[in-house]
Amino acid sequence: MLRRSFVAMLPILPAAAGQNPMLVPPYVNLGSDPARYALVFHTYPSTAIFTVRSGGREYPVSTVAIENPPHQVHTASIPPGDYEILSNGASIFRSTARARPSLRHRFLMLGDPGQSTAGQRGLAEFAKSLDPDFILFGGDMVYEYGRSIDYQKKFFPVYDGVLRQRLWVGVPGNHDTDESNFSSHPDAYAYFHYWQQPMNGPVLKTTPSLKGEPKNRDAFLKAAGAKFPRALNYSFHYANAHWTVIDTNKYNDMRDPKLREWVEADLTAAQAFRWRFVGMHHPAFNSARKHAEQQHPRWLVDLFEKHNVDVVFSGHVHNYQRSYPLRFLNPRAGSGLTVRGNILPDKEGRNGIIYIVSGSGGAALHNGDQESKPKTWQPFTAAFHSRMHSVSVVDIDAGRMTFRQLTVSGRELDSFTIQK
Ligand SMILES: [Fe+2]
Repeated sequence: MLRRSFVAMLPILPAAAGQNPMLVPPYVNLGSDPARYALVFHTYPSTAIFTVRSGGREYPVSTVAIENPPHQVHTASIPPGDYEILSNGASIFRSTARARPSLRHRFLMLGDPGQSTAGQRGLAEFAKSLDPDFILFGGDMVYEYGRSIDYQKKFFPVYDGVLRQRLWVGVPGNHDTDESNFSSHPDAYAYFHYWQQPMNGPVLKTTPSLKGEPKNRDAFLKAAGAKFPRALNYSFHYANAHWTVIDTNKYNDMRDPKLREWVEADLTAAQAFRWRFVGMHHPAFNSARKHAEQQHPRWLVDLFEKHNVDVVFSGHVHNYQRSYPLRFLNPRAGSGLTVRGNILPDKEGRNGIIYIVSGSGGAALHNGDQESKPKTWQPFTAAFHSRMHSVSVVDIDAGRMTFRQLTVSGRELDSFTIQK
């Protein structure tokens, strides 16, 4: 029988003795230990004792009880490799968390996925055939309000099977941490419960607003613990690449000295890596009419340029766009979130950073008509595809990066390579 809501799936009582309490089978996140992964799984309320066995050792599981709706999120810090989840000593799940390669790897990037569309599901199926090492979700993981019930319907079941056993990295978007209310959405901001990412970013003075029913807000804060708000900005390494993930939601001032200080320090340390990538939900450079006024991430571009960032990946705008390599000089505040300045695209060479908008990962597409109207694109835009859902596929082989933008059927919309 088709279950219509997450609430209906969850018993109030703990799982009965002997019953498999698994609600969301395990998925792989970064966690805080670069040598390990965070293995995360959800269960119905349960009194069982969970452990994870890997490489002949047993690893403890930490559990957070979520009140709205009642379930538990379990996390174990494990090394890559085969693992087995035990409930009261009995095996309930086995799989493998793929080891990080030393140099050569493939990652996928897709933004704005969780709207339960045919495009989202089609891309997920196609992505399995691409056999990625990891997937970067560029924000707006579930629509409209980042709710637990929507993860259950529109996210976890869609990325099942092989994709669930690849590393998932999540960039916070506006529908994840910026547009909820605990009165109308008691299970809002599930980002903080479900993503176990490095806690190495700054705590900024501005945070997501905690509007609405105080009882629900307090339950959220209790479950989120130290992750609220620290889990919003972070960085990590993968093979020979360094990633800086920045929360560009509007509650954050991109000119906040504390944020800039952290980005500067992070990118300075990243010089030891061959590749430097940035992930942030809102694009700094966007040719679509949709969200054209939201230019606030441009305030950080001077740091990206100073520290030799190679590519910036964003979502938010639901289509695909690639900029020429570009530099941005003399930023100055315009009206609202606009940031004026001198944009210098290099149409022939490699002088500058390439900005990718890859927000066509599932949600209804934006500005389909602009694809065939290059005169509506900004001069910095080299490619613009807004009629089909698509995914960014990136292969890194030592000093060579090969980028392709592929549709559900595998058709190549765009490609480029960078050789260092
Ligand atoms: Fe967005």
